Amino acid sequence: MSRSFAQLAKKAEANKTAIAVSKEPLAEPPLEIHKLGTQFLRQSGRHISKVDDSIRDLAKDMLKSMYSAKGIGLAAPQVGIEKRILVIDLDIENPTNPPLVIINPEIINSSATVDTYEEGCLSIPGVYLDVIRPSSIKVSFRDEMGRPKKMNADGLMARCIQHEIDHLNGVLFVDRVTDQEELKKALTEHGFNKKDVFSPPE
Ligand code: NI
Repeated sequence: MSRSFAQLAKKAEANKTAIAVSKEPLAEPPLEIHKLGTQFLRQSGRHISKVDDSIRDLAKDMLKSMYSAKGIGLAAPQVGIEKRILVIDLDIENPTNPPLVIINPEIINSSATVDTYEEGCLSIPGVYLDVIRPSSIKVSFRDEMGRPKKMNADGLMARCIQHEIDHLNGVLFVDRVTDQEELKKALTEHGFNKKDVFSPPE
């Protein structure tokens, strides 16, 4: 009994998160999300060598800003911070669904099968276009406590992680859109300039 309690306590400790923020939108979110056309979005994030309180505070501010914008993912370069950290919450309407904090992610495996899925981005509001990406991935990263993790992801989670990791490398989903006509039309309609779209990376 005491042993199983100890195991349970250990398990609870392993799953403990330091990240708990309200998902209610704020009138004044802590961080500004930069839009297509600013240089911030083209900067790569740098490796985070120590996951400490300052990183956890950044993750919280990123989440508050993401929830306020009704987004499901946000990467540090979008808020002008050159660090390899991103936050994801695929169930923002559910106050108890815990967010994911992903630090120094590496995609260690991508499926050969691909999916076409309509993506959007908080940095390019209003623009939703089809992007082709691997259907499933395996990713290694550190969590908000600095613990090493590995995760298999498919569906929307795989899509979202790949989109956010692109941000850490200064890449935007519009760089990967194949239909150039649709791209130009959608960007123009929403006040963006196709000149700010780059060729897709290799
Ligand atoms: Ni984005």
